Amino acid sequence: MTTLLINIKELIQVREITTKKVSGSDMNILPTIKNAFLLIENDVIAAYGSMKNVPTSADKTIDCVGKMILPTWCDSHTHIVYAGNREQEFVDRINGLTYEEIANRGGGILNSAKKLQETSEEELYQQSAKRLEEVMQLGTGAVEIKSGYGLTVNAELKMLRVIKKLRENYNIPIKATFLGAHAFPTEYKNNKEGYINLIIDEMLPKVAEEKLADFVDAFCETGYFSVEDTDRILTASQQYGLTPKVHVNQFTTIGGVQVSVKHNALSVDHLEVMNTEDIEALKGSETMPVALPSCSYFLSIPYTPAREIMDAGLPLALATDYNPGSTPSGNMNFVVATACIKMKMTPEEAINAATINGAYAMNLSDEVGSITIGKKANLIVTKEIPSYGFLPYSFGSNLIDTVFINGKEI
Ligand code: NIG
Ligand code: FE
Repeated sequence: MTTLLINIKELIQVREITTKKVSGSDMNILPTIKNAFLLIENDVIAAYGSMKNVPTSADKTIDCVGKMILPTWCDSHTHIVYAGNREQEFVDRINGLTYEEIANRGGGILNSAKKLQETSEEELYQQSAKRLEEVMQLGTGAVEIKSGYGLTVNAELKMLRVIKKLRENYNIPIKATFLGAHAFPTEYKNNKEGYINLIIDEMLPKVAEEKLADFVDAFCETGYFSVEDTDRILTASQQYGLTPKVHVNQFTTIGGVQVSVKHNALSVDHLEVMNTEDIEALKGSETMPVALPSCSYFLSIPYTPAREIMDAGLPLALATDYNPGSTPSGNMNFVVATACIKMKMTPEEAINAATINGAYAMNLSDEVGSITIGKKANLIVTKEIPSYGFLPYSFGSNLIDTVFINGKEI
């Protein structure tokens, strides 16, 4: 089956397979072809180029006049498997409580964990599938999903099995991350060592035995998991082949970046608070810094210093952090717009960060993240727009006409 998309106003993010990520000043370069065609064969991109060289026939031809095409968003950091919501905490924050105060009185992550423990696997799957479908309609074509709202052996496994089932039932690439080290359960409040032992001695072996995770994560933060705790967990994960992707520097800088780089983390995520040592630690590493601007927006906390990171020659990825407490939104279009508006990223930088660099942060560079022959035909066809800068500029509008996943309209 071949589908030919013709008269594409601009084909965005055209790359050779050898480009795995873009860094520093290269992030401001977004390769495109104007007045282009794109040929899909079954589920992959088979050819593309200028309309001057358009193939003469295909099983199906779609005229895209006035519209642009870009690869689907790669959302490398989400927690979309959760139960219920935390709308009450949202109102509590409006009325003056801080995110930290809510967490300290047993709300926050522990609130979500309680709800998830009481929810059946089937119900959790139904709630999560709805969110996944929603973000696919918003143009996300590859996603990472974390555990971390279970915090018991059984509930963590339940979350990861739901992620596995989503992967089986939906045809976008899904990567699973084990985040047992998300918060200390109340019963371990005075026995932190005991909970870390539970993660290392019971959770990790079971997660590995059932092959439920690709990556391992920890919330390395003051009041949560210390640098030493994180080091222990990442060290123990090594023997199971779990690559780290770590929550660091959301509220404080305590050495989370350094310990993650030491363990060759694939990514370090959040980074709202960064000092020069953190930036230095990332130089020369293969670790992708990941910013989560809708979390900053929702919690009114600082935005990741994107310009400093890129000016240091580093790459940067953008992701949603979709979760019930700090970011109840999985809209990558909003993330890209907010990165431009609040973090002073150019549209070119933001689109690179949300596609090719997001793919890198999930180890999916060979499959998605750019218009490249052989990669999945996971595509966003925009409505008629004057330029790609219109996507972040027109931040409240839905400018997506059609989403293609594996070569098919969804
Ligand atoms: O990435 N920071 C840690 N974890 C999540 C939010 C947790 C929650 O509030 O449920 C995050 O923001
Ligand atoms: Fe997160």
